[in-house]
Amino acid sequence: MPQDQSVSASLIRRSDLPDAGIVSLMVPINGEMTAIIVQCDGATLRAWLNACPHEGRRMDYVPGKFLIDKQNLVCAAHGASFRLADGFCTSGPCRGESLRPVSVWQAESGELRFGCAES
Ligand code: FES
Repeated sequence: MPQDQSVSASLIRRSDLPDAGIVSLMVPINGEMTAIIVQCDGATLRAWLNACPHEGRRMDYVPGKFLIDKQNLVCAAHGASFRLADGFCTSGPCRGESLRPVSVWQAESGELRFGCAES
């Protein structure tokens, strides 16, 4: 699988994702299909809602295609820059805010599950 690709599925295994890179997924969270971003780094998966805290727009400029500047994810709409390490915005119109984190865990069946605290 290419490093930046959009995937729509509810049954996703770690092996369905790249070893490294960023993907966008549509997954069920709290009963609703939700767009998320997953950063794959070996055994580590970091995930956030695919919604910029500035105006709520998707972070990818087309599904699965992201702007990356060094170790930062850049919002295609107005250029806010978020550290990939923790989703914190270091510059742009929502500086000081963060992407909303999504929990990722592996079910006993081997499928990945995703969760997000309700706001
Ligand atoms: S919507 Fe992301 S910077 Fe404005």
